[in-house]
Amino acid sequence: MSETSVIPAEKTVNLRGESFRLYLDEETIAARVAEIGAAIGRDYQGKVPILIGVLNGSFMFLADLMRALDIPCEVDFWKLSSYGAEKVTSGQVHELKKIDADLEGRHVIIVEDIVDTGLTMQYILDHMREYNPASLRTVTLLHKYEATRIEVQLDYVGFRIKNLFVIGYGLDYGQQGRNLPEIYILDDK
Ligand code: IMP
Ligand code: MG
Repeated sequence: MSETSVIPAEKTVNLRGESFRLYLDEETIAARVAEIGAAIGRDYQGKVPILIGVLNGSFMFLADLMRALDIPCEVDFWKLSSYGAEKVTSGQVHELKKIDADLEGRHVIIVEDIVDTGLTMQYILDHMREYNPASLRTVTLLHKYEATRIEVQLDYVGFRIKNLFVIGYGLDYGQQGRNLPEIYILDDK
């Protein structure tokens, strides 16, 4: 390997014929995740919250967020789907895997990768009532606020982002791109 490497001025990735450019780098994401973890740690002092990761997109954020928490906590997963293989929501939320944990009387924190139209989060909040948690809060790494058509309760938000499709750090385009450690945004140029 040569000693000098050329760092491109703008890092881009190509996925399924589309070009995406670097939007949030690893350090920026890590710093924000640490802040959110600290805030949740303060707010839940003396409690043992259970984090519910919404699969698939939230797995990477959830893993980092849990490591940023310095209070006892638990985790479980809920698999929901609304996107299929496209870049726009299908408009319908499907439950692909139920929550196994008993959430009755628990302090539940829903962990999402991104809130777009708000449909998925609305589905989550509506269905959470059936579980009778002691308290319910939501955290999303990304919020496409200009695309959100339904007003939903968001307690912790990582980044408010432009209304463009993003990939990386758990987020996919047709199931690919989740492995990227950074977040990339669709090149609109
Ligand atoms: P909503 O129901 O329209 O708010 O969409 C929420 C879900 O769609 C998220 O949990 C993601 O899984 C997916 N999603 C929304 N926007 C994007 C994106 O830009 N990239 C990848 N997945 C997205
Ligand atoms: Mg999701």
